[in-house]
Amino acid sequence: MSDADYIDHYGDGRWYDAEYVHMRGDIDYYVGIAASSPGPLLELAAGTGRLAIPMAQAGAEVVGVDCAPAMVEEAERKRAALPFGDRDRLTFLEGDMRSLRLHRKFSRVVLAFNTLMHMTEDADLVATLATVRAHLGADGLFCFDLHTPYPSLPKRDPNGRYDPQQMFDPRTGARIVVTENSDYDPRTQINTMRFFYQEVTKDDRPVGRERFTELRLRVIFPRELDHYLDAAGFEIVGDFDDFSETLPFSGRGGRRVVHARVKAAGAAIAAAAARCDGDRGSQRSIAPSTSGGADA
Ligand SMILES: C[S@@+](CC[C@H](N)C(=O)[O-])C[C@H]1O[C@@H](n2cnc3c(N)ncnc32)[C@H](O)[C@@H]1O
Repeated sequence: MSDADYIDHYGDGRWYDAEYVHMRGDIDYYVGIAASSPGPLLELAAGTGRLAIPMAQAGAEVVGVDCAPAMVEEAERKRAALPFGDRDRLTFLEGDMRSLRLHRKFSRVVLAFNTLMHMTEDADLVATLATVRAHLGADGLFCFDLHTPYPSLPKRDPNGRYDPQQMFDPRTGARIVVTENSDYDPRTQINTMRFFYQEVTKDDRPVGRERFTELRLRVIFPRELDHYLDAAGFEIVGDFDDFSETLPFSGRGGRRVVHARVKAAGAAIAAAAARCDGDRGSQRSIAPSTSGGADA
């Protein structure tokens, strides 16, 4: 085991953006979803706005919610620097997607980049899906993607170092070598991933102490996810192996890209509820909750 210093994976938005600067394969996909959305879009766990900002630039009204203050702060800093129109279509709020209730409906709810896997407990997963459902309008689609389990995962040495990458410290420009390992518990289905950051000189000599961060991600098997979606009142209307949406989901590709909508009976109830809301008119506040608390 390393004696590296712990850092919070979501404790510094600029560091997150520097680390994931090459993560671009999903941007056009979610921009396409935003551009074709008939109404406003909610991104849960929006982080630093890596996707929310280009989605708003595509013309959609976007609300991005994240529970990590440092991520929201960086998203908000970037939002403030946008041109007037884009800036005004975009709102970032701090909130927990397990309990968030904004008391408004969206045409699309997006949950990108494996983030459903952060819901390590069954109750968290159920609560997040309830939040999605509470915010989807009658025309609504829940669009999300996640890793699917791959057989090599449990074979990794939990003390090994894998997949070396490099990044640059966003403040000093120093070169950092990033390595990772993971420890998968087949009983809980939780994969504990550790990322190690070592600053190095031009000739690869280490500088200072190594730092590390840890992420606990729940592996969600395909039929398990089918079941959770069904129990939460969703039906899958699009299920693919990757963002090109050319191959139906096979479970072999390492990724699952899903569109789900509220099941027909649920949608009829939601539409009736929306009509009631309309009748009640101004009695109801549409001001978003910034507490993220269970204020439904
Ligand atoms: C992998 S990042 C994805 C961020 C962004 N969507 C992107 O694609 O770059 C996961 C994000 O989920 C957020 N998160 C984790 N649990 C959350 C929760 N319960 N409620 C809201 N956000 C959460 C983290 O703070 C982090 O910003």
